[in-house]
Amino acid sequence: MGLLLKDKPTIGFIGFGQMGGAIAHAIHGAFDGYAILAVESNPARQEWMRSECSYVRPVAFSELFEQCHVIFLAIKPQQVSDLAQKVLPYLQSNHCLISMLAGVSYLSLTELFNPAQIVRIMPNTPAKLAKGVTGIYHDSNVSEQSKGLVIELCQSFGRVLVLDSDHDMDIITAMSGSGPAFFYRMVDAFVRFGVSSGLDDRVAKEAAINTMIGAGHMLLNDPNPQDQIQRVASPNGTTQAGLEMMDHQEFDTLMEKVLHRSYERAVELSKESLC
Ligand SMILES: NC(=O)c1ccc[n+]([C@@H]2O[C@H](COP(=O)([O-])OP(=O)(O)OC[C@H]3O[C@@H](n4cnc5c(N)ncnc54)[C@H](OP(=O)(O)O)[C@@H]3O)[C@@H](O)[C@H]2O)c1
Repeated sequence: MGLLLKDKPTIGFIGFGQMGGAIAHAIHGAFDGYAILAVESNPARQEWMRSECSYVRPVAFSELFEQCHVIFLAIKPQQVSDLAQKVLPYLQSNHCLISMLAGVSYLSLTELFNPAQIVRIMPNTPAKLAKGVTGIYHDSNVSEQSKGLVIELCQSFGRVLVLDSDHDMDIITAMSGSGPAFFYRMVDAFVRFGVSSGLDDRVAKEAAINTMIGAGHMLLNDPNPQDQIQRVASPNGTTQAGLEMMDHQEFDTLMEKVLHRSYERAVELSKESLC
């Protein structure tokens, strides 16, 4: 039995917007009976929390930091300095803050929230369906207990990848944080092709979306994309013709540029967060 299941800690949230709400929902579903407390400043989100999330108790910072050892930071990155000033009086070294703030570096977080332990995570939107990919990074100041807890909590909304450095977090931000949008663009192109070639919208969407899901499942069985491509493409066939056009249009170079630009932006944001 893991630490979480044994200890039943109270989980805290600061910010209960899109991601905070999705993650709290997954944790509530996986660990029924755990107390979840949240501080949310937006009146509309407070109302949503009250009406849709009866399992969450709205609290003030003083109670949150008194009751919770593990607290998710789920505010916008640009709100982090304001937040740090507000919560500084409550922070102790046994608090573990889990930041999901895109582009706020580990170093900035440790400086802003000293003396709390910091774990940086990068979830993605499929976390809403417990199908997320979440990168996790922390340094050696994080206790074994906090580490175990964070991993278990994040597993409730999908796969967890423990990373070796904050730099790896910038790569994961591009690949799996932004990644869903790149796959959606690909599906959108499929749908537009289907419709412009004569399919109705519903059929085109079903074909494109289920092809992507099916291909994803095939990759889970055999995670080698080159082998999977070989199995679909027969010599001189339709797939081969399409793949040759992808080569001709330098598709691999384009995707490399797309991911690299997204990664560069994550690095830029991390540097800006240090200013
Ligand atoms: N969406 C994604 O795909 C994704 C993926 C990975 C990570 N993330 C990260 O997740 C974080 C949250 O994103 P989101 O889309 O959930 O944002 P969001 O919907 O705007 O939610 C943030 C909420 O926090 C509230 N808030 C701000 N400052 C607060 C404070 N001091 N105390 C209490 N509540 C406060 C905000 O209220 P106001 O509206 O009044 O400011 C807002 O309701 C971001 O840092 C983002 O980088 C997002």
